[in-house]
Amino acid sequence: MEQQLNELKETVLLKIDEATSVKELNDVRIAYLGKKGPITDLLKGMGKLPADERPKMGALVNVSRETVTEVLERRMAILEQQAINEQLDKEKIDVTLPGRPALQGNHHPLTRVVEEIEDFFISMGYEVAEGPEVEKDYYNFEALNLPKGHPARDMQDSFYISEEVLLRTHTSPVQARTMEAKQGAPVKIICPGKVYRRDNDDATHSHQFTQIEGLVIGEDIRMSDLKGTLSLFAKKMFGSEREIRLRPSFFPFTEPSVEMDISCFKCGGDGCNVCKKTGWIEILGAGMVHPNVLSMAGYDPSVVSGFAFGMGPERIAMLKYGVEDIRHFYTNDIRFVSQFHRTEA
Ligand code: DAH
Repeated sequence: MEQQLNELKETVLLKIDEATSVKELNDVRIAYLGKKGPITDLLKGMGKLPADERPKMGALVNVSRETVTEVLERRMAILEQQAINEQLDKEKIDVTLPGRPALQGNHHPLTRVVEEIEDFFISMGYEVAEGPEVEKDYYNFEALNLPKGHPARDMQDSFYISEEVLLRTHTSPVQARTMEAKQGAPVKIICPGKVYRRDNDDATHSHQFTQIEGLVIGEDIRMSDLKGTLSLFAKKMFGSEREIRLRPSFFPFTEPSVEMDISCFKCGGDGCNVCKKTGWIEILGAGMVHPNVLSMAGYDPSVVSGFAFGMGPERIAMLKYGVEDIRHFYTNDIRFVSQFHRTEA
């Protein structure tokens, strides 16, 4: 019986050695060490042995079983580790592969410029006002000192919807609306918005564009207030060394009227292609609010005065970012728009 036990032990050790997978080794365990296996059989067969041989034989069987179990467990640990390694190998990902960048939305360059202008004026205590794009002839023209038949109406070719209603040709009607609503109280607003003109689109004209209107009304508002405000604005938008120049001009709603130039931010005034060799770049129109405009809105021009200005964010964005064609702002080609993505947080 002892010999039988030894042979069995050798066989099991060999089988353990031959097993190449966790499953095969488990089969060996069940076949040889399980309840129905030969070792159990051997133990059962001990009853046939003479009583004095039983303890020795029992001890032998137990030792053999322990040895075999130990060997099997060691082998099992190795095979399990192997299985894990194979699995990891199969599931390996190459973390050095370049990823696919996530496309991120961003503000349109025009929106950025409008917000920058708004931020400046808000910091100076202005409020942002809005008005309708479909406007009454009265607010777009008449209340701004442009009665029917006034030749200056031709300066702004209009899209009429009916005799009395049109798409606003500028943001100035918001001046008239705001003053009317304020009933004589002081005003300090800017009004950004879309405007429409019957123009043939080309590199510098668009039938739809944006404007920002500014209006300050109060007692003792002077031309010097306008000049100081615009000078700060020019420095904020185009650099602290910018100088401004006011040239006499004409707008029906302001008297006197001016156009503001800034010293060229490219050549500093020496003359280059940006300033067309003049050293100056025209930026906006402005002036002191015409007494007629004040009185039509219910103000007393002998008590209050004010200044107004109007500018085109497209023009400012084109100058600031070197954009050569206004149509780029509206065709929304991602290659154009994404050049202006904000990189700062
Ligand atoms: N509304 C004028 C335009 O569209 C721009 C403008 C000029 C507005 C002078 C003003 C101003 O308020 O004072 O051409």
